[in-house]
Formats: sequence, structure tokens, C-alpha cells
Amino acid sequence: MRGRDVELLVLDDAEAAAAATAERLAEAARAGAEIALTGGSTPRRAYELAAEREPDWSRAGAWWGDERCVDPADERSNYRLARESLLDRLAGRPAVHRIRGELEPEEAAEEYERELGETRLDLVLLGIGPDGHVASLFPEAPTLRVRDRKVVAAQAGHEPFVPRVTLTLPALEAGAEILFLVSGADKAEAARRAFVDEPSERTPASLVRAASGATLAILDRAAAASIEK
Ligand code: 6PG
Repeated sequence: MRGRDVELLVLDDAEAAAAATAERLAEAARAGAEIALTGGSTPRRAYELAAEREPDWSRAGAWWGDERCVDPADERSNYRLARESLLDRLAGRPAVHRIRGELEPEEAAEEYERELGETRLDLVLLGIGPDGHVASLFPEAPTLRVRDRKVVAAQAGHEPFVPRVTLTLPALEAGAEILFLVSGADKAEAARRAFVDEPSERTPASLVRAASGATLAILDRAAAASIEK
């Protein structure tokens, strides 16, 4: 199925969506790709399955699309999620480029922008929030208009309400391939706004498409309910 500038793959349930995402992550890792990971709760299963499918990520690089400004050991940390469900399960770890959430947000953003340098992200994995946010780009936020930075500090517009650091729209769009993973009925409206409706700052995910590559969204049936109608 096609959405607005995005290919939509709708699978039966969250497990099938996680498995399809894991397959793509594993393939990218095998190819030695620079991979941007996402946070939230949805990707956990995909990360576990990706580690099973491809335990050798030693040729790949792991990056993050956003981070919550907490200690890396904090249970709200996006790095911690990836460490537990993916990195700690690998026989060969990728080069890990984490956003240092323990720093002041501005400082962490500047440091990460330097770390990223001219790196071309081969695969950018993203989730979306029920409000349509993506990475830590929230509806109507001023960060949506930043075009001259790759990484910025952001205010939380959603739980957990801690300061964030996020890639900007131009940095996300520069990804060679963008892959959204969306599951659950609470995402159905946001998914329609993100993938079918006209782009709008009210739905940040609607603004994210690969500038010169493929954009794919893997959804479970519940998340696709408002699109399939
Ligand atoms: C974050 C994320 C965020 C996430 C969505 C979906 O740090 O919160 O990277 O953009 O992908 O909020 O999160 P869930 O999977 O928890 O619904």
C-alpha cells in the first residue's frame, strides 16, 4: 500500500511488525550500515529479534534519533533500552555513538552534532507518538523549523517529561532509508495523519520523508485501522 511518499507495510500484529523491522535491522547490520535507533517502548521486541537474527554488528555503527536527558542507566534512557534489548545480546557490538543524556541538553546536542559530523545515516528507525511526534520533535515545536543544525535540545511534549536532545528534520531526512515502526490502536489516528494526510507541523511525523531514498512504514493492523478504512 502507498501512503503520501511512503510505502506502507501492514502486518497482522505487533509481533509480526517487530519481526519485519528486525529483519531490516539485521540486514543493515550485516551490511555494515550506520543505523539510527529510536526509543520508546515499541522497538524493544524488534531489537531483541534483530540481535537473534544477526549477532554480529561489528561492522555497523549505532546512533540515536533522540535521547531523554537522563543518566544512561536510567530506565527512561533510550540508550539503556537499546543496550538491554540489543547491544548486550550481540556477539559483535557496533561502534556505539550515544547521545550523552547525562549532560546539559545544549551541551549534549553540540557534542552529538560534532560526533555525527558528515556521517550519512544509512537507516533511520523511528517510532511515532499518539500525538504524531517523531524522535523528540513535538507538535508545533520551534525545533521543527531548525534547518541549520543537525542536533538540538528540545522540551518534552510527551511523557517522560524530561528535556530531550533530538536530530532535526534535515538530519532525519538525510537518512538514506527511513523506517517507521508503529503498532497499537492508540497510534491509529497519528498514523493516518503521518502517512496519508497533508504534511503539517501538528503532526511532526508527517514532515519526515527520506530526501533521496526510500521511506517505509511497518504497521500492525491496529495502528493501520484509520488508514485501511
Ligand atoms: C522517545 C522516542 C519517541 C518514540 C515515540 C513512540 O524518546 O520518546 O524516540 O519519538 O519513538 O514516542 O514511543 P512508544 O513506542 O513508547 O509509543
